[in-house]
Amino acid sequence: MRVTHLSLTDFRNYGRAEVELDGGPNLFVGSNGQGKTNLVESLVYLSTGGSHRTPVDAAMVRQGAQAAVIRARLEHDGRALLLELQLNRGSVNKAMVNRAPARPRDLPRHLSTVLFAPEDLAFVRGEPSVRRRLLDTVLAQRTPRLAGVLADYDRVLRQRNTLLKSARASGVRGGGLSTLDVWDERLVTLGSEIVDERVALVDELREPVREAYHAVAGDDHDPRMLPLLSVDGAAPDDEHDEAHERRGDVDAVGTTRDRFAAAVARLRPRELERGVTLVGPHRDDVLFRLNGLPAKGYASHGESWSFALALRLGSAQLLRARSTTGDPVLILDDVFAELDRSRRARLAHAVRDFEQVLVTAAVLEDVPEELRARTVHIRAGRVVAGDDDPAAVESPTGADPA
Ligand SMILES: Nc1ncnc2c1ncn2[C@@H]1O[C@H](COP(=O)(O)OP(=O)(O)OP(=O)(O)O)[C@@H](O)[C@H]1O
Ligand SMILES: [Mg+2]
Repeated sequence: MRVTHLSLTDFRNYGRAEVELDGGPNLFVGSNGQGKTNLVESLVYLSTGGSHRTPVDAAMVRQGAQAAVIRARLEHDGRALLLELQLNRGSVNKAMVNRAPARPRDLPRHLSTVLFAPEDLAFVRGEPSVRRRLLDTVLAQRTPRLAGVLADYDRVLRQRNTLLKSARASGVRGGGLSTLDVWDERLVTLGSEIVDERVALVDELREPVREAYHAVAGDDHDPRMLPLLSVDGAAPDDEHDEAHERRGDVDAVGTTRDRFAAAVARLRPRELERGVTLVGPHRDDVLFRLNGLPAKGYASHGESWSFALALRLGSAQLLRARSTTGDPVLILDDVFAELDRSRRARLAHAVRDFEQVLVTAAVLEDVPEELRARTVHIRAGRVVAGDDDPAAVESPTGADPA
């Protein structure tokens, strides 16, 4: 699929912007802080139901405005689709698909994007939550129904934690909490599905990530991914859990559901003591390895980058293989500045056959030639010039941005 036109009203630092987009590469160039990431963030929002930078919707609405509107015209197989989202300060958001009212959370079914960003290095170096979010984003795109399961799990987890906290406060100890049993059942049912889907996804990603790593790094460093499951005793969020690496290799016995239920029963006294749920997909992780060593703490800067890029590229390949609506739109936000020459060229080469690729850069020269076919300049929340397509230039109404 591809986005043919993007229209923003009072979104981030844009008052009003209209951008025509081509198939293939589209490059947005501008100095720091001008609105390049904001522009692509609007598409990330439509395709994932949220910003990748903040959970706060109000940040999307231009300072001083009451609502932001994102409008994207899409095209797939000669068919056009119009997605519209209005983000309201202080009231619920509204969405439309082809001008018919829709639920905002249904928009991601129509648009799929894969975002590459400098923050992706945290997949290798960061905390487990970053890796969980990566897997869940891909899960929701690969199987949209799972977005609902993930949201339900979050809700159950919050309720259960509240209950544990109040039980702790009132001094109730194990066994005497029948309400907790009801929440345990929900937690285990929803959580087991998430655990199984994540494990399956890691499996499906194995080959695409290996190929992508090779494509980006030019070496075969045998990248591996190993789920670390709290239902099997791993505690990756607890520092100094030295056993957690080993536990990832253990062959678990019984269904996820059985192991989860057993862990919940086993941990109940500790959970009542601490007032928080200690087992479930919210406490899991996935271990990345290169050349037989953990990537975190061992891989070089360049190797870590190659792994991060491979995770995104591998995900994009997987979504492309599964999709009925064509390729995901690839968004490469500011990544070329982070890479050496050879990785730049290799990445550009690896993404060249995707239906649409959006690239942002502060410095034009950082971006390989083959991605510069269409270049659009961004300055202070305005699309000020499309090098090869004057029709795309918005006529400035205020001060002349040149
Ligand atoms: N809700 C908002 N209202 C007005 N301005 C905003 C809003 N949110 C963000 N901005 C402004 O948008 C600018 C950041 O834009 P953006 O992140 O897109 O920059 P960029 O072009 O990607 O820069 P860089 O090259 O540094 O990544 C900042 O100046 C910020 O203050
Ligand atoms: Mg940026």
